[in-house]
Amino acid sequence: MTRPLPEHTRLVVVGQGQVGLPVAMRAVAVGFSVVGLDLDAVRIWSLKDGHSYLDDVGDGELCRALSTGRYRPTVCYDDVECFDAAIITVPVPTTKSGPDLGAVESAAEGIAPFLRRGGTVVLESACFPGTTEEIVVPLLEKGSGLTAGTDFWAGYSPERNKPGDPHWTLANTPKLVSGVDARSLAAVKALYDTLVGRTVPVGTTREAELAKLLEDAFGQVNAALVNEIAMFAHQLGVDVWKAVEAAATRPFGFLRVDPGPGVGGHRLPTGTGLTPGYAHPHHDFRFAALANEVNDRMPDHLVERLVAMLDRWRKSLQGSVIVLLGLSARANTGDLVEAPGPRVVELLAERGAVIRVVDSHVEPQRCPSSMKLVELSESCVRQADAVLLLTDHDDIDYALVERESRLVFDTRHRLRGSQVEYL
Ligand SMILES: NC(=O)c1ccc[n+]([C@@H]2O[C@H](COP(=O)([O-])OP(=O)(O)OC[C@H]3O[C@@H](n4cnc5c(N)ncnc54)[C@H](O)[C@@H]3O)[C@@H](O)[C@H]2O)c1
Repeated sequence: MTRPLPEHTRLVVVGQGQVGLPVAMRAVAVGFSVVGLDLDAVRIWSLKDGHSYLDDVGDGELCRALSTGRYRPTVCYDDVECFDAAIITVPVPTTKSGPDLGAVESAAEGIAPFLRRGGTVVLESACFPGTTEEIVVPLLEKGSGLTAGTDFWAGYSPERNKPGDPHWTLANTPKLVSGVDARSLAAVKALYDTLVGRTVPVGTTREAELAKLLEDAFGQVNAALVNEIAMFAHQLGVDVWKAVEAAATRPFGFLRVDPGPGVGGHRLPTGTGLTPGYAHPHHDFRFAALANEVNDRMPDHLVERLVAMLDRWRKSLQGSVIVLLGLSARANTGDLVEAPGPRVVELLAERGAVIRVVDSHVEPQRCPSSMKLVELSESCVRQADAVLLLTDHDDIDYALVERESRLVFDTRHRLRGSQVEYL
C-alpha cells in the first residue's frame, strides 16, 4: 500500500499539450507546485496570459492555477529546479524509419541535471516497448549521476486522454502505472494515486508500453476496418450507417466504431522497433501497416465522392467553393496531429477548389499557412457549392448549415436534409 504524495510536491511536466496541460492543472488542483515546460513559445505565452488553447482546460481553470502561484509555464529547461517528480508528455511522431524519439530524449536530458535522490520520473508518451528502460533511464542516469531503482524511481504510465470527451477525464479514467523495479512502481503509483481516481499497477514498464501500443492499435485498426466497409458499402449502394447500427445490436463480440474521414493521432509503428543502435527484435506489424494504409486512403476517397456529387449537379470541383467544417482530428479539440483534414484540403486545392475552413478549435499558428480559417455564417454557407463536414464539433451551427446549404457531404452522419449525402 503506497501513500499519496504530500501537498507542495514539486512537479515538472514536460510538454504542455493535450496530455501535459491537463496533468499540470490537475497537479496544481491537488496542491503540487508545477513547472509546465514546453518549447512552443506561443503556447507558453498564451498560458502565462491565462489563455488556454485546449477545450478541455478552460481559461477559468488556468487562471485559478496561475493565481495560486504554484503553476509556472516556461519554455526554458533552466527554469526547472530540483524536483520531486517529473512527467514527460512530449510527442513521439512516427517516421518512415520508425518512431522519432528526439523529443523524449531531449526531455530526459533536459531534466536529468535537476533529478535528486528520491525523485520520480515517469514517461507518458506513446512509445515502443523498451523506450523507458533502454532510452529514458540511461539518459537520466548519465545526466544526474544517479542510479534508477537505487537513487531515484522511474516508470511508464501511458496517457489515456480522450480530448473533447466530457465524461472520461484524467481524474476518472483508470491509469496504468509501472516502474523499472518494485520501489519505482510504488513511487509512480503514489504519484498518480494523488492525481487520479484509480491506478492499475502493471508488472513491468515493457508490459505497460505494450498495453499502450495495443490500445492505440485497437482504435486505429477498428477505424480502418469500418472505413474499408464504408468504401465497399458505397460501391454496393448500401447505407453503411444503417449496417453499423444493425451490427451494434449484437450484445457480445462487437464494439461499435463509426466510419469517418480517417484517424488522427500518431501513426502506428509498423516495422521498426527503437531508434537505430538499440538492439531490438524486428517485427512487421502487418495489421498496423494495413490500418495505416486504409486510413490514409480516406482523404482521396472523400475527394472522389465530392467530385461525383458535384458532377451530378453539372459542376466541376475546379473553381467550386467548398466550405470544410472541422479540420482537427477529433470533435471538440484543435488536435491536428495526423488529422486527415489538412490532407483533404491539399487534395481539394490541387484540383482547383476554393476552400474555406471553419474550425474554432484549431490554434491559428498550428494551421498550415496555405489554409484560411473563416467564421461560419449564412453568407459563407450560401456561397458554397458544397459543404464538407469532416469533424463534428458541438459548436458548429448545424441548423444554419441544413437551412442554407445547397449540397452537403457529411462524413459524420450529423446533418439532415435532402441535400445531404453521407460517407
Ligand atoms: N492527445 C491525445 O489524445 C493522445 C492520444 C494518444 C497518445 N498521445 C501521446 O501523448 C504524447 C503527447 O501528445 P499530445 O497530444 O499532448 O501532443 P501535443 O502536440 O498536444 O503536445 C506536445 C507538446 O510537447 C511540446 N514539446 C515537443 N518537444 C518538446 C521538448 N523537447 N521539450 C518540451 N516540450 C516539447 C510541443 O511543443 C507540444 O506543445 C504523444 O506521445 C502522443 O502520441 C496523445
